[in-house]
Amino acid sequence: MTHVLNAVAWPYANGPRHLGHVAGFGVPSDVFSRYMRMAGHDVLMISGTDEHGTPILVGADKEGITARELADRNNRLIVDDLAKLGVSYDLFTRTTTANHYSVVQDMFTAVHDNGYMVEKTTHGAISPSTGRTLPDRYIEGTCPICGYAEARGDQCDNCGNQLDATELINPKSKVSGETPKFIETQHFFLDLPALADSLNEWLNAREASGLWRPNVIKFSQNILKDIRPRAMSRDIDWGIPIPLDGWREQPTKRLYVWFDAVIGYLSASIEWARRSGDAEAWRAWWNDPETLSYYFMGKDNITFHSQIWPAEMIAHNGAGARGGEVGPFGELQLPTEVVSSEF
Ligand code: MF3
Ligand code: ZN
Repeated sequence: MTHVLNAVAWPYANGPRHLGHVAGFGVPSDVFSRYMRMAGHDVLMISGTDEHGTPILVGADKEGITARELADRNNRLIVDDLAKLGVSYDLFTRTTTANHYSVVQDMFTAVHDNGYMVEKTTHGAISPSTGRTLPDRYIEGTCPICGYAEARGDQCDNCGNQLDATELINPKSKVSGETPKFIETQHFFLDLPALADSLNEWLNAREASGLWRPNVIKFSQNILKDIRPRAMSRDIDWGIPIPLDGWREQPTKRLYVWFDAVIGYLSASIEWARRSGDAEAWRAWWNDPETLSYYFMGKDNITFHSQIWPAEMIAHNGAGARGGEVGPFGELQLPTEVVSSEF
């Protein structure tokens, strides 16, 4: 008998979910868990709603309600649908629980203590009327390269070039129509280059296992070639506070939604253990090298599961180029397989 972790992607709570979610990885992960249970394995299948991030904030603003109200409503709809479908989660929770906040902050602290969170100054756009950040994709303007009038701050859909929002001619917020203000702002970056060798080693071993879909492993190895530090905080007032003096108190500095969402697999396992009456039970699925862990998701999530999440675990374990100490969760085991059903 083996411990099998079935980590299923967390649906965004910015709306009800549709059939694509169910067909893409809801049913495949459920079939997998049921099979593994019948085969006598000890399966822990966890997920929940992913409730932070800009789309939820923008959606809530549009309806004139708070982000929490919007997330509460969609969480109930999603939970209800999944329950009616009979998907066999051991726990389906949310990213807005006190437990998740504390696990995420402990992860951040461990990664930071080991030297893998680097502070940098960047340029960001804010809405002059609300003071809130405008992510690049919410800014529209004329493409400086081809002159297309509806280019987005991250790319031009006409000529296909990657853009920087500051390059757009006559930039406007897609949310409010205002002209954004560009400001200098401090953020924490995950030092992915210092984790690249360890990621590469892990991916090569996974490739040798012959278990992963070739496209998923190739895609993951490819994105390692151009690996750069990646911002793990945002100027936003909805999300998990950064647990450092001088940051914790800032109402508009929060951890990036993807930094926290992937940690949900760990926090949900910890919540499940606590509810089961044996608070340490989660360790059998996370600290034992014999454990098998399968992550089910759509293809646009691969980067986060084959790079960001393993990088966070390597940094927590103190196993990257900078070294470090094993963090409070013990030696975390990297994914056995990242399963994308749409490749
Ligand atoms: N909410 C994301 C999406 O729907 C998936 C998050 S998976 C997680 O694409 F594990 F990171 F939460
Ligand atoms: Zn263009």
